[in-house]
Amino acid sequence: MRLAIYPGSFNPFHKGHFDILNQASKLFDKVIVARPKGMPSDVGLLTAQLSDRLRSRVHITEFDGLLVNFAKIQGAIAIIRGLRNTADLDYEKSMQYWNEDLGLTIPTVYFICSRELVHVSSSAIRTINKLTDPK
Ligand code: PNS
Repeated sequence: MRLAIYPGSFNPFHKGHFDILNQASKLFDKVIVARPKGMPSDVGLLTAQLSDRLRSRVHITEFDGLLVNFAKIQGAIAIIRGLRNTADLDYEKSMQYWNEDLGLTIPTVYFICSRELVHVSSSAIRTINKLTDPK
């Protein structure tokens, strides 16, 4: 069983995350979508739109503490992350190096998001939701 962890804040989980998850699910038998415990998160889109193919391969959970420890406990063979642009790459490199300094021994595998989704971000969605909320 090739198991990978797809960690993130997912606040909220959006189409770009879905795209990465879809790509990862073609390479791994099981993908655990994992968000840090205690952080604001919204995986409503993911739970609402999981296709039959993905449902059997995807598990959604929270993790406590360091990602490296969670990955070890789960027996993961890879960490999944998505890239939209070079700014993401810089951020991801720092995070990977931190994880390695903290004892990560499995590879971090990056998937490039589809071209039509490069502008989609959780922060933009939060802003738009706030400004268009009828309340
Ligand atoms: O979607 P995000 O905000 O880029 O995800 C960041 C996340 C949740 C993957 C990262 O903050 C994380 O792994 N947090 C758990 C704590 C940890 O292990 N930190 C060390 C890596 S910097």
